[in-house]
Amino acid sequence: MSTDNEAYRSIGLPPGIIRLSRNENPIGPSPSVIEAVKARCARINRYEDPDQIALFRKLAELHGVPHDEKLALPGAGSDGAWIRVGDGSEHLMHAMARAFLSPGDELIEPHPSFGLMSRYAEESGARAVRTPLTADYVYDLEAMAAAVNERTRMVVITNPNNPTGTIVTHDALSSFVAGLPERVMVLVDEAYADLAEDLACADGAGLAREFEYVLVVRTFSKGYGLAGFRFGYGVAQPRTMKRVRAFHGGSPSAMVLTAAIAALDDPDHVLRTRNAASASKAIYYEACEELGLEYVRSEAAFVLIAVGDAAAVTASLAERGILVINAEASWGLKGMIRVSYGNEQESRIFVEALREILS
Ligand SMILES: Cc1ncc(COP(=O)(O)O)c(C=O)c1O
Repeated sequence: MSTDNEAYRSIGLPPGIIRLSRNENPIGPSPSVIEAVKARCARINRYEDPDQIALFRKLAELHGVPHDEKLALPGAGSDGAWIRVGDGSEHLMHAMARAFLSPGDELIEPHPSFGLMSRYAEESGARAVRTPLTADYVYDLEAMAAAVNERTRMVVITNPNNPTGTIVTHDALSSFVAGLPERVMVLVDEAYADLAEDLACADGAGLAREFEYVLVVRTFSKGYGLAGFRFGYGVAQPRTMKRVRAFHGGSPSAMVLTAAIAALDDPDHVLRTRNAASASKAIYYEACEELGLEYVRSEAAFVLIAVGDAAAVTASLAERGILVINAEASWGLKGMIRVSYGNEQESRIFVEALREILS
């Protein structure tokens, strides 16, 4: 994001910088991923990962969708596949915009939210309609339903939401989806779902199993700590996925597939990540309460904090080598900054800096 690029330049990126602006995983990948990738290097003269079929099987099992070994083979028609892998969920989302949005169409996405699909919609010549959140920073599904008209072709649900960290529950999303006309695709972006502790959080794949017009995107960038590998995937019914495939080329490298398989074989790492995120957020909440600052309780990788002069606080933190997002500049969230979770030391350094700046 430009804010942190500017901060990087202005402070000359000293070593030891604390980057709490990109929602990365501060504990890193599972050690077994690093081992698997190192071992794979020795065989990198070969195109494919011999175990890549296992990847599709594991993902299908994770989400309870059908899996056919033959369809997952590279070069297979994959007309019956429920899972599609790609280099980062962003790339899949781009293909989904091109597959379903044409000039004259409308896409509905709340604001503040990730906003990437709104940008892609506009690139496809469609119009992005941004609906407000509730006063509690939660998706207002009623406002979204009210915005649907005959031009609406897609709605976007980022769950948990970025930048608020709030969730849409399964019951609420399920009745919202059931009430939509079948021509309206529902894209559920679950980039932060691995970090959500609230069991009421909607299960997008469960809805994709039920509704042909639901598409889910997931990423290994957050919970699995593999952002640099750029691995994401989509889950949808085969007819829906076939359409995405027509607009989505390429496949992740063997190295990336190896990393993803090893990551899936260590599900405890996601648990460790979720625990690290909770511990960091608890440090932030405690400091906010002590300092009398309002904040939004988050099921994701970051917390919104009302600091007053968001630009000045973001700049003062950057001077101390701590990068956060000025949420007022990025999303119009008055007086707020968005702070990614850090490891324990980073989290404590951040709250101490905040205390000092605001004193
Ligand atoms: C809500 C949301 N969706 C998708 C992405 C993109 O993830 P990926 O790294 O898989 O492209 C991000 C990245 O920050 C995100 O915040």
